[in-house]
Amino acid sequence: MEEGKRAAHAMLFPFPCSGHINPTLKLAELLHSRGVHVTFVNTDHNHQRLRRPRGREGFRFESVADGLDGADRVAPDRTVRLYLSLRKTCKAPLLDLARRLGKREGVPPVTCVVISGLVSFALAVADDLRVPSFVLWGTSAVGFVCTLRLRQLRQRGYTPLKDETYLTNGYLDTPIDWIAGMPTVRLGDVSSFVRTLDPTSFALRVEEEEANSCARAQGLILNTFHDLEADVLDALGDEFPRVYTIGPLAAAMHRRVDHHVASGLSLWEEDAACMAWLDARPEPPGSVLYVSFGSLAVLSPGQLAEFAWGLAASERPFLWVVRPGLVGGDRGMDALPEDFLAATKGRSFIAEWCAQEQVLRHRAVGGFLTHSGWNSTTESIWAGVPMICAPGFADQYINCRYACGEWGIGLRLDEELRREQVAAHVEELMGGGKKAQDMRRNAAEWKARAEAATEPGGSAYENLDKLVEELRVEGS
Ligand code: UDX
Repeated sequence: MEEGKRAAHAMLFPFPCSGHINPTLKLAELLHSRGVHVTFVNTDHNHQRLRRPRGREGFRFESVADGLDGADRVAPDRTVRLYLSLRKTCKAPLLDLARRLGKREGVPPVTCVVISGLVSFALAVADDLRVPSFVLWGTSAVGFVCTLRLRQLRQRGYTPLKDETYLTNGYLDTPIDWIAGMPTVRLGDVSSFVRTLDPTSFALRVEEEEANSCARAQGLILNTFHDLEADVLDALGDEFPRVYTIGPLAAAMHRRVDHHVASGLSLWEEDAACMAWLDARPEPPGSVLYVSFGSLAVLSPGQLAEFAWGLAASERPFLWVVRPGLVGGDRGMDALPEDFLAATKGRSFIAEWCAQEQVLRHRAVGGFLTHSGWNSTTESIWAGVPMICAPGFADQYINCRYACGEWGIGLRLDEELRREQVAAHVEELMGGGKKAQDMRRNAAEWKARAEAATEPGGSAYENLDKLVEELRVEGS
């Protein structure tokens, strides 16, 4: 793209965690590939962790301070601190950055602001610049709708829970059958945030507010495709007239972006040796189970032990990502039970972080034990890999419900983890029984539909073009 020419210029700012940065980077690459000038804004802290990424013509990285100090970064409630600090400190620097960018030689003025969820304060930056704003909400459409409905659930008295017994007395199984576009689901699956006992629950209010504030933006962008969530998307259209479903983003990138600016950009260093380990597996294709719980989940040492001994008992080969901080108290691999590595020697590989999309698409991999984060779910769908779902937070319960129910590509673990069930589910998924065959067939079908959506003429392909057109009109 020619610098200096009047053009659409999108300034993108995600909430600073992998689950938000990754899809926003993909969107940035897609917009850039369609001729939109892009400025991707990280926090200074992540900019350093990403080793100060360099952009290329028409795609630049910038950063702003997040306002946290060293103690905040290791505090157990660091995500809450980060949320509050961004809200307090980042609006002025973002606005200032956008204004400065417009004065640089050869850089068109910022013509739209694109944010991820949880940084709705930045919608005001767009207002001050008098440019349109778009939100890339990082969950499924159904995850978004469930978050919107937290307000009604609160107003109708479903949440907060009356006391602790409600967590285990079957109350979370209460059917919710009134959310338009959705089948009847369990209350406990709508969102983890309904599980609070606190009438002033911060997380519940924040989620509710952040989702509802998307109505202030010109458009909502979702990392999903129409076929996957047709009913809920059709119902959502009444409330949100401009929804752009452009996913799976990983598939869209693969198809439409030749020269990746951001490939390999990751807050943790990817362990390349796990790819060589997968290449060298002697078993038939599809025999390895990939295990990962995303970038935010924190397990107790007890939960880690149930997963570990379940995997050990299954006798199947597996690649497990145990990132620093996966276990409470900021622990990682060092928290694995003693003797576990010896017990699984020759069929296990433990990595701190890996190139997940490549791993899921590797021929050796045939199953994914996941926390059901939305990025992981879409990457698994695109790879055609069925899942074992162990949700624990936010939208992960509803993703799991859809994966195991509507889409027929998942097996759910009970909330109280037991190693025997972990082993049995691994055996069921990786063995060749009827259930496994059905899930594999469904996964292959969803993979084909994901590919079709991101091909020329497909719904996601067309929606990306529509979005770019919209940015150009609004930016001209
Ligand atoms: C967060 C929320 O927790 C989740 O519920 C929501 O749906 C999205 O935002 P996170 O928990 O990090 O995300 O999970 P997920 O959405 O699955 O994102 C993890 C990302 O990290 C994926 O893109 C995955 O490919 C990447 N990843 C993970 C790696 O690249 N390497 C790894 O080793 C592990």
